[in-house]
Amino acid sequence: MRQKIVAGNWKMNKTRDEALALTSEIVNMVRDEVRGDVQVVVCVPFVYLTSVGKLLETQSNISLGAQNCHQKASGAFTGEISAAMLQSVGTQYVILGHSERRQYFGESNELLKDKVNIVLENGMKPIFCCGETLEQREQGIHFDLVCNQLTESLFHLTPEQFANVVIAYEPIWAIGTGKTATSDQAQEMHAKLRAHIASKYGAAVADATSILYGGSANPGNARELFGQSDVDGGLIGGASLKSRDFLDIIKSF
Ligand code: PGA
Repeated sequence: MRQKIVAGNWKMNKTRDEALALTSEIVNMVRDEVRGDVQVVVCVPFVYLTSVGKLLETQSNISLGAQNCHQKASGAFTGEISAAMLQSVGTQYVILGHSERRQYFGESNELLKDKVNIVLENGMKPIFCCGETLEQREQGIHFDLVCNQLTESLFHLTPEQFANVVIAYEPIWAIGTGKTATSDQAQEMHAKLRAHIASKYGAAVADATSILYGGSANPGNARELFGQSDVDGGLIGGASLKSRDFLDIIKSF
């Protein structure tokens, strides 16, 4: 059985008080309402990791996540945050290669390879994002492109290392647009990705890999998306900023 995961990506939102209030609401609702075996992750801005982490201590099915980290271990990189720093404040997951980082900060598959390595070396799990633009989909190159993102950033890993990677398929045209992929489109890509992983690591590793869908997932469409055989959960942006919506998504399996 693969781990089901619903991860919230808060992006650059919320002040400290708002962040703590949202976390408390999520903790209480998960405790009261979530019975299954879903792993919840909240990926918060760096400055709130410690204080949000404290609120999560009582709730073992909610993990602490970050949204990025630097690729180098330490040194003269003013303003950057290292994997060791994240690990030292209790971070368990790190989103890597989100399309916003690829687009606005020029993150390449090559750079992400280094980030994946350092996150794994520090005992955390990367949530590795991949996905195509609308133009790439219309050109019919989306399957090759997304598989290649995995090949170039992940396929140097040993099977043991790869077992700690979570994949998030996020079609760029669906992120923050209100235009979600259909469940068929999501399933089709997830199945391709799983077959691609199997071609490198074998069926057992591929079957055990959690592949999340992201892009305008909400309480209205999550059940249909999560009902697909290769969709193991979601990476949720906008809807993770409202506790009720986030919880309803978590309860959509
Ligand atoms: P969205 O964002 O749910 O707001 O579309 C998803 C993401 O970017 O991770």
